Amino acid sequence: MNIKLTPRLKKIAEQVKSGEKVADIGTDHGYIPVYLLKNNISPFVIAGDINKKPLESAENNIKKYDLSDKAETRLGSGLSILKAGEVNTVIIAGMGGLLINELLTASKEVVNELNTLILQPMQAQFELRKYLIDNGFTIESDILVKEDHHIYEIIIAKHGIKKNIDPIYYDIGFHIKNNPKPLATEFINRKIKEVKNIIKNISENSSNPSIEKLNEMENKLKKLEEVELWLQD
Ligand SMILES: C[S@@+](CC[C@H](N)C(=O)[O-])C[C@H]1O[C@@H](n2cnc3c(N)ncnc32)[C@H](O)[C@@H]1O
Repeated sequence: MNIKLTPRLKKIAEQVKSGEKVADIGTDHGYIPVYLLKNNISPFVIAGDINKKPLESAENNIKKYDLSDKAETRLGSGLSILKAGEVNTVIIAGMGGLLINELLTASKEVVNELNTLILQPMQAQFELRKYLIDNGFTIESDILVKEDHHIYEIIIAKHGIKKNIDPIYYDIGFHIKNNPKPLATEFINRKIKEVKNIIKNISENSSNPSIEKLNEMENKLKKLEEVELWLQD
């Protein structure tokens, strides 16, 4: 019996390289660990969660699929449940980007020994990409996946060299063109719409509009419109 994942979870699981030992942080139901083991992608998976109930649900699924000899569940916050070098890849999915930043900062020794981070922030994607670049990571892939009208962003990061980056890349990722053209175009069009709304709100609703913020948003809009054109090439 195999496990059927939703498009978002499947796309995340597909990013794991064969043979990697994995920790799924904030595992909840434990579907990703089960999928990785059932499909012989990983030899060993640690499923971590800060809350007892989700961890019990992960434990039950691991037992149900007869995988207890290849998986461990651990209760605790973020990567604090790991020893440095215990796994090669960490997945953190379905949490806010700011929380992901905090979890990475809190466990630098563990993070230093990892090959790959597979991150799927629900919000604050800009702040997460900026954090990664400022902290010496390189972003190897930015993958978009659509599920129930929502476009999710998956960020694959590895250790690299700190670079100076145009901030627009923190918004749109570094590899948007590697995604299917219709999905990438929809993603950029949604960003353009968001920025236009912000500009409209600042101009119409604010009694004392911040010129600085307005300029920042106009500049962002211009860059997003350039990206939209570049995607059509
Ligand atoms: C929205 S669920 C996401 C579950 C799964 N990763 C996914 O993408 O579908 C967030 C999970 O993260 C757990 N969580 C929240 N804060 C955490 C932390 N600091 N450390 C570990 N797990 C945490 C929650 O208990 C919950 O099970």
